Amino acid sequence: MLQNSQLNIKNLQISPPLLLAPMAGLTHSALRTLLLDYGGVGLLSTEMLAARRLPVENEKLSPFLVRTRRESPLSYQLLIKDQEEVGPAVEAVHRFGADAIDLNLGCPAPRVRRSGGGSSLMEMPEKVRSIVARARKATSLPLTAKIRLGEVLSEDTLCHFCSMLEGEGIDLLTVHARLRKEAFCRTPHWHWVAKVKKRLSIPVIANGSVLSVADAKKCLQASGADGLMIGRGAAFTPWLFADIAREVYGLDVAPLPISLPEMYGRFVVSVCKRFLPERRLGRMKEFTHYFASNYAFGHNLAVKVQTSSSMLQGWERAMDFFVRNDRESVQAAETELTKVTQTLIREQAG
Ligand SMILES: Cc1cc2nc3c(=O)[nH]c(=O)nc-3n(C[C@H](O)[C@H](O)[C@H](O)COP(=O)(O)O)c2cc1C
Repeated sequence: MLQNSQLNIKNLQISPPLLLAPMAGLTHSALRTLLLDYGGVGLLSTEMLAARRLPVENEKLSPFLVRTRRESPLSYQLLIKDQEEVGPAVEAVHRFGADAIDLNLGCPAPRVRRSGGGSSLMEMPEKVRSIVARARKATSLPLTAKIRLGEVLSEDTLCHFCSMLEGEGIDLLTVHARLRKEAFCRTPHWHWVAKVKKRLSIPVIANGSVLSVADAKKCLQASGADGLMIGRGAAFTPWLFADIAREVYGLDVAPLPISLPEMYGRFVVSVCKRFLPERRLGRMKEFTHYFASNYAFGHNLAVKVQTSSSMLQGWERAMDFFVRNDRESVQAAETELTKVTQTLIREQAG
């Protein structure tokens, strides 16, 4: 049975209800653009943005903020640790053209927790209440929040927290179905999203290890969620949103032929166009870590790029890998791949 393909929060239409997850180092303009080429994403996202720094960031240069108008609708995720940070940060993202604002309440990274943000906030519900109340007053944009399940599985604690968020004016909640300490290798508790969904009247989005169309179907069935958020899958298989949009939501998203070398080349050129030279290589390496898993011996590709000292070197090593492991695709996309090489040579020459 097809799922409802439309979700509205305030004036924002999210269709299909497939959301890109915020991911530090990954969810930037170049990845978002690649996803748009295939289609099927209902709401794009930035990576988490330190609220404290936002008012002084240059959105034309900051790799976290650079974007094109095509990247829309786009949600900006705020990493807030104090209610005083809310007003200036919200004002900044209004200026940047945000279509929605998300509050990061789930990041388990020790550095983030130590600074008083991310998942540490779930242990301080009253502080979160005042942050959300401030944010609600400061914006009429859709205001969303993203959480994990908490420290231990406790339906009462979790649902009280989520009801508080709804009561303070959150318009949509994403639940990454893992406890704070659970690593990605642990099976997500999708059925726990169902417990939250039952208690709230705002849309609830399920997140965690949706890496295929089959996962999407299973997750929606287990969680009863109003939509899905996809993170690593966006970098493993950038066409995943399009596949789910077609097969789960019945949308008419034209399937594009998949050529991995050509896709990788498009991403690399996009990284070059969007970011300052010193910001490029790290982003190429981060994406390659995920993308490489499309190949049986992809770890060789990942290691080769990981140990490169320039974009051009990384690209030449990647091409060497593609020629050996995906010769037909390389031959079919020869013209495009040559153009990528020429672009990188020009860039390197300065
Ligand atoms: C490299 C990386 C960076 C991440 N950065 C963020 C972030 O900035 N904000 C956030 O809320 N979650 C972040 N996450 C968590 C993802 O948004 C998502 O909840 C998680 O990856 C599970 O979804 P997935 O299985 O579809 O990847 C990050 C995850 C990864 C892998």
